[in-house]
Amino acid sequence: MRLDWEWEAGLSAIPLDTEPLALTADCCAVTEGLPCSCAVHLLFTDDAHIRAVNATQRNVDAATDVLSFPTVSYAPGHTARTSRRALRREYDTELNACFLGDILISLEHAAMQAKQYGHSLKRELCYLLAHGLFHLCGYDHTQPDEQKEMRAMEEKALELAGITRDDQSLGTPTDDQLLALAREAMARSYSPYSHFKVGACLLCADGRVFTGSNVENASFGLTNCAERTAVFRAVSEGAKEFTAIAIAAEHAAPWPCGACRQVLNEFAPDLRVLITWENGLVAEATLAQLLPHGFGPAELS
Ligand code: THU
Repeated sequence: MRLDWEWEAGLSAIPLDTEPLALTADCCAVTEGLPCSCAVHLLFTDDAHIRAVNATQRNVDAATDVLSFPTVSYAPGHTARTSRRALRREYDTELNACFLGDILISLEHAAMQAKQYGHSLKRELCYLLAHGLFHLCGYDHTQPDEQKEMRAMEEKALELAGITRDDQSLGTPTDDQLLALAREAMARSYSPYSHFKVGACLLCADGRVFTGSNVENASFGLTNCAERTAVFRAVSEGAKEFTAIAIAAEHAAPWPCGACRQVLNEFAPDLRVLITWENGLVAEATLAQLLPHGFGPAELS
C-alpha cells in the first residue's frame, strides 16, 4: 500500500513513528487481498480541523477520531477484493496505483482515546488507520453483522502487523501472508535503472515481520537489494532471529544474490527462503541449499 502522508501545520513537530503505520497499511492490503497496487492519502490533523470537516462533509458538528472519504463506489455486497474493475477506474498514472481515497486522523482525539483505553498511541493510531482503510475498501458498520465483519478484518490486520493488546502474543503469519507482504514491498521498489522491482518480507522468531525493497543509485554499485534492506531494518530495530524470508519480483524468479545469501547466513543459516514471481508462481529452498558451506560468525570464534 502506498501512503501519501500529510501533517496539518504544526503537528509535524509531534514525534510519531510512522513505521508501524506503514506496516499496518500493508497488512490491511494483504488481509483484504487487494487485487492491485493501491494508494491512500493520510492527513494527521487536530480536533478543530476534523470537527470542521465533519460539519461541512457530514453535517455532524463534532470532533471525531477518524474520517474516511472513499473514491471507489462498490456494488452492494462487494469490497475492494472483488471490485477490480471499480478500482481500475481510480487508477492514477502518476502514483502507478489505484487511489482508494482520503483518511483524516485527529492526533488530539487519538491521544485522548489511547489514554482512555489504557493502550499506546501507536496501537490507537494503527487501529484508526486500519478502520479508515477498511472503510475505503468498502466495509461499513451500520448493521451488527457488517460491524462484526469489519472488526474481524481490523483485528486480523493488526495482528499481522504485530500490533497486539498487552495480553496477546503474536501469531505466526502464513507463507501466503509473507509472500503478499513481499509483493506490497515490491511496489515501493526504487529501481529507475534496472526496472527490476524486488520486495522482501523477513519473519522473526517472535512473529514480527520487516519488509524491504531494492533501492538503486545513480552510482550503480551502491544499490541495496530488497533482502538486505529488510535485514538491516530488522537488525536496527533489535531483531536478530529470523525463521523465513519471502521475496517477490515481477517477471524472473528472485532467488537472492550471493551478497544477500551471505548477509542472511550471518543471522539465520537455517532460514526458509520463499520466492514468488510472474503470475503468483512460488518456490521454496533453505538457505543452506542456496549457500552450502556458508562462512559465518562460528568460523571466527
Ligand atoms: N536485486 C535484489 O533486490 N535482490 C537480489 O537478490 C538480486 C537483485 C535487485 C538489485 C537491483 O536493484 C535489481 O535487482 C537488478 O539487479
